[in-house]
Amino acid sequence: MDRELTLELVRVTEVAALACAQWMGRGRKHEADDAATNAMRAMFDTISINGTVVIGEGEMDEAPMLYIGEKVGCAASPEVDVAVDPLEGTNILAKGLPNAMSVIAIADRGNLLHAPDMYMEKIAVGPRAAGKIRLDDPIEKTLEIVARANNKRINDCTVMILERDRHQELIEAVRKTGARVRLIGDGDVGSAIYTAIPGTGIDLCVGIGGAPEGVIAAAALKCLGGEMQARLWPEDDEDRARCKEMGITDITRILYMDDMVKGDDAIFAATGVTDGELLRGVRFTGGDMGETHSLVMRYKTGTIRYIKAVHRLTRKPNLVFTD
Ligand code: FBP
Repeated sequence: MDRELTLELVRVTEVAALACAQWMGRGRKHEADDAATNAMRAMFDTISINGTVVIGEGEMDEAPMLYIGEKVGCAASPEVDVAVDPLEGTNILAKGLPNAMSVIAIADRGNLLHAPDMYMEKIAVGPRAAGKIRLDDPIEKTLEIVARANNKRINDCTVMILERDRHQELIEAVRKTGARVRLIGDGDVGSAIYTAIPGTGIDLCVGIGGAPEGVIAAAALKCLGGEMQARLWPEDDEDRARCKEMGITDITRILYMDDMVKGDDAIFAATGVTDGELLRGVRFTGGDMGETHSLVMRYKTGTIRYIKAVHRLTRKPNLVFTD
């Protein structure tokens, strides 16, 4: 993959973030998601890739755009797998809460796990604890390992967990160790990434969330030198059949970084939609001006770029304004 692609991908998340940020706090998550998806899809037509969406907005019959299997990009090469979440945190945005983002990951064709749209158990850590954790270890042991790796007492570690009934036992177990817990309403791509960004104060992200989000987060962690381990968490026979259809025979096996994002290159880009630990959200600064904050990184070179951009909104052909 060409290094220029990193900046091209930021254009894609920027326009998606600008499009859906117009819906912030309006309580209409589907409209916001549609706005992000439309803008992202249109921008892809200008990007020099021969991409296939492997993680997207759903199957062809349920998503008009950015569906799994859809071709994106305007070139014959490079052939890449594309994972998108035009708006990660639809509820967050609808309520105007922090940490909604627009995200993309790409890797050479065949290198991203084609994760079915179901749940996944996940554990994510930053570079210092990478290679030391195991998904199946008891949480107490994991916290000992993470605390030691991060040179902290367990009591000073912070664990980010989605606030869901299914996590009640996990939350209690973490609290018993003395570790601090930050419960989030949505957005576990961000929380996985925070573990690998110094200064966020997040040491561990653990729990069950979306499998597509898991693969996107794994791509980001690969670029950052962190680690995610995961296991699909089918809820019923339909989910199990879905895994089979997608060629996943052993549903119970642990998925390591190389199972989710193979190869020697991957690019991840994110633009903040609402303010978050990592990125500021979109600002409409008056007139036809808007500001975005993005992060883009590449595994091959290890470069991490934060990009602040000022946009003239009326000159953006892929941006539709809401009334
Ligand atoms: P959406 O942006 O699709 O709403 O996903 C938000 C999210 O919180 C993800 O970050 C997370 O992986 C998943 O939903 C958790 O699913 P659920 O809300 O069903 O527990």
